[in-house]
Amino acid sequence: MILVTGATGRLGHQVVRVLRSVGLDVRCLVRKGSEYFWLNDTGSGYFFGDLRDPASIGRALRDVKQVIACHGVRVERTDNDHRRVNAEGSVALFEAAKARGVEHLVYVSCAGVENGGDVPAFSSKRAAEEALVASGLSYTILRPGLFVENFADLARRVETNGNVFLPGAPDTAVSPILARDLALLAMASIDLEAVKNRTLAVGGPETLTVRTAFERMCAANGLPAASWQMPPAGLRALAAISRPLGRRWTNHARALAVYFSQPSAVDGAEMTRVFGIPLTPYDEACRGAFTLRHPSEDATAREEKVVHRQFTATIYEPGTIAWDDLPAGPPPRRD
Ligand SMILES: NC(=O)c1ccc[n+]([C@@H]2O[C@H](COP(=O)([O-])OP(=O)(O)OC[C@H]3O[C@@H](n4cnc5c(N)ncnc54)[C@H](OP(=O)(O)O)[C@@H]3O)[C@@H](O)[C@H]2O)c1
Repeated sequence: MILVTGATGRLGHQVVRVLRSVGLDVRCLVRKGSEYFWLNDTGSGYFFGDLRDPASIGRALRDVKQVIACHGVRVERTDNDHRRVNAEGSVALFEAAKARGVEHLVYVSCAGVENGGDVPAFSSKRAAEEALVASGLSYTILRPGLFVENFADLARRVETNGNVFLPGAPDTAVSPILARDLALLAMASIDLEAVKNRTLAVGGPETLTVRTAFERMCAANGLPAASWQMPPAGLRALAAISRPLGRRWTNHARALAVYFSQPSAVDGAEMTRVFGIPLTPYDEACRGAFTLRHPSEDATAREEKVVHRQFTATIYEPGTIAWDDLPAGPPPRRD
């Protein structure tokens, strides 16, 4: 049994899909009220818990041999913040995994953890990495930079608004990776001897500048690369101005400044050598990331499929109860 944390996320849902596509047993750690129902077609099990609740993590790990940890906080909300989830929650996960005899844990961190200073998105990941290395668990830490999907998000704003603020420094060298390709690397890391007890920078097959990556994303999808620049200093100023609104937007702007201005290029050929997995060429990845939207962004699917169901059992195993027979659950969570 493989436990996937962050299973509802942009990366995590791809991890669940690639694991299930080869028939592996998967249990997703999901929060009650989160949008886990988009994973119903994968046939994975669910465990309802929360990384801020150590007791739930221990129970989620029952019979688990490997863990792929993809949890993260994109924008902080109320008490779901970088420190509590990325740092404390990860440490609780590692301790519980060690106590339960987990054989290998793959932790998805991010590029920039060494240079992110006190920016919470990065310092919390750094704390988690240090705890994992010291835990005595067999581990692999993957450090991706920007996803191809981040550039697809920017292109969608061009499609909708005719223009977008391109954050960061345009000349920064990056190797954007498709979330699905990263999911394949995470799956391979479960039992690949070459990556055992190693921390690896991972990325896509091509190194580009932030501006070129954006321009090629737009070109691949028939859009003009219309943008204004929001340089790192502008993002930091935005972070300072938004302080009265709470740490949520301040920390988000500070994280963007690091993500889009810190070089995160990797050697694509070396990655192929280590993992033996061919990665999707950038232009093809651009078309895929732009067109293949997450079902949660599909208005028709939302209309037809989303009844927010809540399972009564703590662990739901597929096949035990028909989907349509499940009781409607509480409304979606807002934190
Ligand atoms: N470009 C990028 O986005 C990028 C680049 C480098 C590294 N990374 C790293 O890659 C990882 C995955 O990124 P992503 O874009 O897939 O993130 P994402 O879409 O924001 O997903 C985050 C996941 O974490 C879960 N989560 C949040 N708080 C939790 C809690 N208290 N307990 C349990 N689960 C919780 C979320 O569940 P809910 O559905 O319940 O909220 C969600 O499934 C993250 O660690 C991120 O830092 C991302």
